[in-house]
Amino acid sequence: MNNDILQEQIAYYRARAAEYDEWFYRHGRYDRGAAENQQWADEAAQVRAALHNLPHQGHVLELAPGTGIWTAELVTMADNVTAIDASPEMLAINQAKVQSDKVEYIEADLFNWQPQQQYDMVFFGFWLSHVPPDKLDAFLQAVTAALKPDGYVFMLDSCRTPSSTATDHVLPDEGTTLERKLNDGSTYRIVKIFYEPEALEAAFKQAGMAVQAHLTANYFIYANGRKV
Ligand SMILES: C[S@@+](CC[C@H](N)C(=O)[O-])C[C@H]1O[C@@H](n2cnc3c(N)ncnc32)[C@H](O)[C@@H]1O
Repeated sequence: MNNDILQEQIAYYRARAAEYDEWFYRHGRYDRGAAENQQWADEAAQVRAALHNLPHQGHVLELAPGTGIWTAELVTMADNVTAIDASPEMLAINQAKVQSDKVEYIEADLFNWQPQQQYDMVFFGFWLSHVPPDKLDAFLQAVTAALKPDGYVFMLDSCRTPSSTATDHVLPDEGTTLERKLNDGSTYRIVKIFYEPEALEAAFKQAGMAVQAHLTANYFIYANGRKV
């Protein structure tokens, strides 16, 4: 995949940082009405419960933490969290929101990143869908390298559900990129891959992790397991 789109993807999230949470909390262009918003919240709660079902962790590595929606969960179940994201705007919002001295923030491009140490758990939310197919195995190999023996991995991401995204976004039938808009109408191209459970499990297995993937009713796919 052309490197330009990966740079455009970083630019998109940097510019979107201040309005990012509108998506997860279903405000503005992401508001789909009370019933669908409630369904989204219920399915998110299902994933949150699966995460909190894991044992307490020592040191967790969170990749692409964004504004801290999941960092806030991780600090309640771990001794320490290292959070790596390419956007300083995202990291600043995350730090202001989570306000925990358990979290170390690192600004880095995950496509030029190799772990320098091993962690008890690696977590990434809504990140794998932005990894181009030709970089997927190298990324997952880096995750495996970042895990201690038997270390835990947990990820979640979006299903191909049109109402998951903003009302003014078009979900193409196929392809690995799509166009995203900000509230000011500016547009960006980003990578977006929607996984089915079997393909996700196979990709993790190839990289040395055994995970089980699950779908919620409409919106989310999540997977958890261990390094083998
Ligand atoms: C969809 S958001 C996910 C944020 C958060 N994990 C969540 O669940 O809300 C994607 C995140 O990836 C970050 N990102 C995009 N490209 C990146 C890159 N090349 N390296 C590191 N982070 C990147 C963005 O800044 C953004 O915070």
